[in-house]
Amino acid sequence: MASHDFPAGKLPETSLEIRLPQRSDQVDQDAEHCSVLVNGVWQDIRFHDYARIYRIPGLYEQLFHDVLDCQSPDVIGKVLKEELQTGGYEPESLRVLDLGAGNGLVGEQLRRVGPAHLVGVDIIPEAREAALRDRPDVYDAYHVADLTNLPADLLGELTRARFNTLCCVAALGYADIPPAAFSAAFNLISDRGWIAFNIKDRFLSDEDTSGFATFIRRLRDEGVLELLSSSRYRHRRNVNGEPLYYVALVGRKHRDIPAEFLD
Ligand SMILES: C[S@@+](CC[C@H](N)C(=O)[O-])C[C@H]1O[C@@H](n2cnc3c(N)ncnc32)[C@H](O)[C@@H]1O
Repeated sequence: MASHDFPAGKLPETSLEIRLPQRSDQVDQDAEHCSVLVNGVWQDIRFHDYARIYRIPGLYEQLFHDVLDCQSPDVIGKVLKEELQTGGYEPESLRVLDLGAGNGLVGEQLRRVGPAHLVGVDIIPEAREAALRDRPDVYDAYHVADLTNLPADLLGELTRARFNTLCCVAALGYADIPPAAFSAAFNLISDRGWIAFNIKDRFLSDEDTSGFATFIRRLRDEGVLELLSSSRYRHRRNVNGEPLYYVALVGRKHRDIPAEFLD
């Protein structure tokens, strides 16, 4: 697909034409799709085909934030800031790892908090390319990597970064970040570090099939993660205009996640 030609750091001012499908019954989030007019041709794009979405400047923002009213980067940024204030923590000492960073919307929020160091990681190269194209000043570094299979040099670099904060927004569950990758990122954060993330409410319920409900309960119950705040909120709307609820969680790490938690 041809991508539009826009200068780095500047998103298009004209909006894209986006058509949502006719009202569809019970489509789960990972099957949602839309049509977008790109260079005069209508393209059908699945919402979870992030590579295609990131290649079109402004599409992610327009689709998820303008049309579907996604609140998550704002909500996570706000609850993290509140907990930092309550904990008496100086923003200038924050060293943040943004896991599943995408095209940098969460990084943009975090940059406003004033961290000392902010690093993005995503598994697809198109995310990094979009972040550097649209928000070149947000991250100090941005890596394309699978945290469950890190090359030794990158593991060394991430370890030397001495992160004390993990953020992971709209990226857990479905075919996105599994517990093993979250765990690897968590273990890069120092003890007493801040952990801020969100997850679909269903993935914390008894009906969960993602593995996160049991995993997060265990983190809390076995003293790995001290949960400070947990709030259910509307993450965004679905293609039918109905609300999708997520839970925003902020806590402090007490120790590394042991390997057996992933069995
Ligand atoms: C819905 S986007 C969220 C992007 C950004 N956090 C935001 O809120 O705007 C989910 C992101 O998670 C990334 N992702 C999926 N699986 C991943 C993995 N195993 N490791 C790192 N990133 C992953 C995807 O490539 C995508 O960029």
